[in-house]
Amino acid sequence: MKLLLPSLLLCLLSGPLCAEHATDDCPCLNKRDCDPPVKDLGHRKEVFAFSDGSTDVEAWTWESITSLIVPSSFNISSKEEANTMCITHNKGRKFGITVEMDFSGHVNHTSEKAVEWVQFVAQQQKQWHAEIIAVNLVPYFSQDANSFWHDHVALIKMLVAMKAKIAKVTDIIKVACIVSWKPPCAEKDNSCDFTELSTDVCDFYILNPDSFTDLDEEKCRARPNIPLTKLLYGLSEYNSHHVPNNRVILGVSWHGYDYTCQSLIGNVCSMLEDNSTKCDFSMRRKLTAGEIIQENVTEFYSHQFDMLYTAPFFNYYNSTDHHHHQVWFEDSTSLTLKYNLVAELQLRGLALLYGDDLGLTSDYSDTEKALWTWPGHTVLLTDSPKSQPDVFHYADIVSGTAVGCLLLGAALGVMFVCVGLRKRIKKVNEPFVRDRQADVQDYTDDDFNL
Ligand SMILES: *[C@@H]1O[C@H](CO)[C@@H](O)[C@H](O)[C@H]1NC(C)=O
Ligand SMILES: *[C@@H]1O[C@H](CO)[C@@H](O)[C@H](O)[C@H]1NC(C)=O
Ligand SMILES: *[C@@H]1O[C@H](CO)[C@@H](O)[C@H](O)[C@H]1NC(C)=O
Ligand SMILES: *[C@@H]1O[C@H](CO)[C@@H](O)[C@H](O)[C@H]1NC(C)=O
Ligand SMILES: *[C@@H]1O[C@H](CO)[C@@H](O)[C@H](O)[C@H]1NC(C)=O
Repeated sequence: MKLLLPSLLLCLLSGPLCAEHATDDCPCLNKRDCDPPVKDLGHRKEVFAFSDGSTDVEAWTWESITSLIVPSSFNISSKEEANTMCITHNKGRKFGITVEMDFSGHVNHTSEKAVEWVQFVAQQQKQWHAEIIAVNLVPYFSQDANSFWHDHVALIKMLVAMKAKIAKVTDIIKVACIVSWKPPCAEKDNSCDFTELSTDVCDFYILNPDSFTDLDEEKCRARPNIPLTKLLYGLSEYNSHHVPNNRVILGVSWHGYDYTCQSLIGNVCSMLEDNSTKCDFSMRRKLTAGEIIQENVTEFYSHQFDMLYTAPFFNYYNSTDHHHHQVWFEDSTSLTLKYNLVAELQLRGLALLYGDDLGLTSDYSDTEKALWTWPGHTVLLTDSPKSQPDVFHYADIVSGTAVGCLLLGAALGVMFVCVGLRKRIKKVNEPFVRDRQADVQDYTDDDFNL
């Protein structure tokens, strides 16, 4: 009742506005939950939590995120799915929807299909009352290795048209382009510079953590979701393609993969290659962080740690399928390192894929889980701005060196850089010291002066 009076007054004052508002359906019980958050949270970083729709987002730790992004499969007609938007706004957070961009081959921005796509996105934004449009560009670039300059230009024109159409309704919308770990055709000719074109339309570039393996043409073996060496290389390529770090949002996965090995020699798990000499990733099974913790607590805590990739893994033998398996995942050490990288390289923020991966909703207070998940990245949001410049300078050099070493194929060099990075990061990182693996510490300290 109390709320009604002011809104009535407002309506009288701004009749036409209200009339328009009334026409777009708000699925929320409290109609105000369809409005964008008014309060500026004052965060300098973004933490986007992606949902895959499998858990109830209400129970998530909202203090540690700035936005919720729902999958493209969500349908506003579903009461439950629509409610995620109401919850997000009610918590004072921004709400985003994912839209797929799966054009392939020759792209014609004046074609019927392109015009329909622009219409569709504008309509989705309106129905969902979304503040963020996350355009998934990964399919376009992964299906279409042979796209050309004019296709990229056409694609950009579609995005520009989409943004302009939405801007007519509201000007608060941000477009987040979901991209792969390195820019399309990074190493090839300069005429293929997609990202340079896209800086007008992509407010954020979200690096998709699953793209590191999905878009892989290298030797076919099990590896972590985000190999640190590749991450630094990809970032430097984005920089040189005119995407500044402060637009980059690092996507980290809260899931891992169980790879079925054809052979396991040392710790190298080799997999089958299909005829195209690409890896056959159908032989891997996604494991959420929740599943790994629940099913394999022992392995989870007794895992090995790959220093070069800075990621944990463990091997096991399945006596039913008679194959060795290698499981790569993320733990507190590897995630903390990535969260710190966001701060040190002054990236814009972090995207968590997916919030649902923790699986459980009731146990967030449980020490182990709490330690390495939700609060870990909260540090970013409370990050103090001072001392950043020197840190950045150092990190810049480190990343440059890492890339140099990578190109030379000098594994040892990269190892030193990584060790250096770990050393450096450790200082920033006091709250997490207690759960770092003892053997990792020893290794670092012993070998650093080699
Ligand atoms: C959403 O669901 C409704 C009814 O269930 C259906 O008619 C509509 O086509 C769906 N929309 C999308 C975009 O799938
Ligand atoms: C693009 O589509 C429009 C409409 O279908 C057509 O008139 C035009 O010729 C197409 N352009 C190219 C380059 O194919
Ligand atoms: C690989 O190539 C062989 C011969 O060219 C063919 O018989 C086989 O079906 C192919 N396998 C796959 C997975 O495409
Ligand atoms: C989990 O641990 C059990 C018991 O050690 C083992 O039998 C099983 O293979 C493990 N599963 C995975 C996915 O690691
Ligand atoms: C072992 O392999 C069998 C057959 O593929 C599968 O059903 C089972 O889930 C596997 N066990 C584990 C622990 O992965």
